[in-house]
Amino acid sequence: MARYAHIVGWGMAVPQRVVTNHELAQFVDTSDEWIVTRTGIRERRVAGPQESVATLSIAAAEEALAVAGISPRDVDLILVATATPEHLFPATACLVQDALGASKAGAFDLLAACSGFIYALHMAAAAIRAGTHDIALVIGAETFSRIVNWRDRETCVLFGDGAGAVVLKGSEALGGVLASMIRADGSGGELLILPAGGSRMPISEAVVRDSCHFIRMNGREVFRFATRVMEKATREVVAQAGLCLEDVDLIVPHQANIRIIETAAKGLGLPMDRFFVNIDRYGNTSAASIPIALCEAVQQERLKPGDTVVMVAFGAGLTWAAAVVQWGMPLARPRPPWLERLARITRYLPAQLHSRTMRLWRRFDARMSRLLQREGE
Ligand code: UT7
Repeated sequence: MARYAHIVGWGMAVPQRVVTNHELAQFVDTSDEWIVTRTGIRERRVAGPQESVATLSIAAAEEALAVAGISPRDVDLILVATATPEHLFPATACLVQDALGASKAGAFDLLAACSGFIYALHMAAAAIRAGTHDIALVIGAETFSRIVNWRDRETCVLFGDGAGAVVLKGSEALGGVLASMIRADGSGGELLILPAGGSRMPISEAVVRDSCHFIRMNGREVFRFATRVMEKATREVVAQAGLCLEDVDLIVPHQANIRIIETAAKGLGLPMDRFFVNIDRYGNTSAASIPIALCEAVQQERLKPGDTVVMVAFGAGLTWAAAVVQWGMPLARPRPPWLERLARITRYLPAQLHSRTMRLWRRFDARMSRLLQREGE
């Protein structure tokens, strides 16, 4: 019997701190007028010292699980799509797994930059369809504020921080992820690159002096690439789902530049009100942009159960991806905020205690085995 991967929960988390264009114009040679007309961005969120890609991922995941009414213990796969992981390793997904107490989940990060969330959705849906997994948490999370050069006006005005998550659940009922595609063209890798910090160019004094630990981007070329693939990928995935553009209720595009979205709308012959746009408030949050936009589309009742939504993204790699989803139902009934807070404390406190106990146990175990070894010598 055919299996389908349904979206049954969603959540988002953004840092508290808002940085407006006017604030940016105080320390870099730019203006609100330039940023708004060239990109559509008015403000973005920037992570504070206590916030990180893991804390944002965890908060978004907790919300998504609450909407789904699913216990973290039932999750069997956690994917975090991010280009700004907490560390190169361990994977941010493992930190999320530990914080949630998702004791039977496999967890790993996926790097496809701004296309990452759709890549992760594609892989998780495939695992669910294949029957190897039943409940997957798919997260897109970024803290680009930590890798942009705040003196480079060509990049620092564009990006923002945040996270979004969805819960996918296997079912025999037709629906959920109806079609998806992922693509790459590595020949354009240098157009959008973080040169240092990997094994090719480890961090050194010279690297820092030459600012190689910050993003480098050929904005014009990325723009040209984006306008080409957004329309093409949308048409391709809609056809793959056996649908036509008129059947699509909402398109949730990667929020990189309003002009890219407008060009895609024009190419597809669709009005702008068929596209969800929140770039004005968050800027480009890379892998987080689509799941954040999905959550806000639900909040604003632009996306309702049964609607057909297309997600489409492009990014470093170069990568691009698209998916057609029949939007699902939250499985849990909404609770009053105080009850939700209480439920979260009781749900996640044992996970924290378990994590600490495991760390202590590991130290104790290592010491005991050293002692026993010495006694045996
Ligand atoms: O998720 C994928 C991530 N990347 C993207 O999506 C980027 C795609 N590209 C873009 O969105 C656009 O190319 C940008 C927004 C990055 C740039 O817009 P543009 O219309 O392509 O501008 P441009 O690069 O052609 O630059 C035009 C002028 C230049 O000055 P000159 O050489 O004409 O004197 C830039 O130096 O604008 C200047 N400029 C700025 N001026 C004020 C570039 N950045 C700024 C700035 N403020 N922040």
